[in-house]
Amino acid sequence: MNIVITGASSGLGAETAALLAAEGHRVILGSRSIQKLKEVKKRIQSEGGSCEVYALDVTNEQSCVQFMKQAEENNGSVDILINNAGAGTFKKIEELQAVEVEEMLSVNVTGVHNMTKAALPYMKARDQGKLLFISSLAGKIPSPKASVYAASKHAVIGYARAVRMELAGTNVNVSIFYPGPIDTPFLDKADKTGNYRSRLGRMMLTVRETAVAVGKLTEKKSRESHLPKVGFLLSVLYQTAPKIVEKAAGKQFQKK
Ligand SMILES: NC(=O)c1ccc[n+]([C@@H]2O[C@H](COP(=O)([O-])OP(=O)(O)OC[C@H]3O[C@@H](n4cnc5c(N)ncnc54)[C@H](OP(=O)(O)O)[C@@H]3O)[C@@H](O)[C@H]2O)c1
Repeated sequence: MNIVITGASSGLGAETAALLAAEGHRVILGSRSIQKLKEVKKRIQSEGGSCEVYALDVTNEQSCVQFMKQAEENNGSVDILINNAGAGTFKKIEELQAVEVEEMLSVNVTGVHNMTKAALPYMKARDQGKLLFISSLAGKIPSPKASVYAASKHAVIGYARAVRMELAGTNVNVSIFYPGPIDTPFLDKADKTGNYRSRLGRMMLTVRETAVAVGKLTEKKSRESHLPKVGFLLSVLYQTAPKIVEKAAGKQFQKK
């Protein structure tokens, strides 16, 4: 299959690309840093995989349109779009800078819409395809210092579910993935003090196990998937009784 992955120059996107390419898929990768993308491509090709890379800024609608056009024209079709590009800053509300807020909303929300909008006409015309949205457990369970990040990942859920409803009756499938904290450069950018990373300790998912879960989701028609699996139960509990969970797990919410 031909699989587009946004935000593939680092972390989960890069690891998922390597894994899917090793399984025989052709991966088409985009992010702003073409230099970093070329390094990912080198790794994939050295492992015998098939890969192409293009510069992409998901916050720019025209960049997304151009990216999808190239991906479609050079490969015949794109079977799966993985909306993975993301940004986060973990700070108290009074400390968040306007530029940080703008980055989280434009990459995590507008960017997801721009790429989905750019990919959909091709998938709908063929009546085939899959959209995979990388949300976060933060999209279901918010926490202090992650107000805007959590809001942006909650937005991904609302957006993806609405897309799914718009696509009812077609063969274009929508899946949403909710991972907990993953050991990627994301954590160092989100909290420059390093406190969050050190407090997480063994609670962090490895990037490999997370990529494996994303890989599995590309093969299935599952609506939603959580990692770790207990994230599902925790999120149901939180949606059902937020007051009780916030009281009972008070300290667990203070890791950032
Ligand atoms: N790490 C975690 O703890 C965690 C937990 C749950 C969910 N997630 C989600 O998982 C996804 C991947 O995160 P990660 O941990 O792999 O983070 P990461 O290592 O920081 O990678 C983020 C990727 O997004 C790309 N990106 C940022 N802005 C972009 C833009 N405007 N246009 C195109 N690409 C852009 C970056 O590439 P360039 O800089 O080259 O553009 C980079 O490749 C994100 O959606 C994140 O919210 C992460």
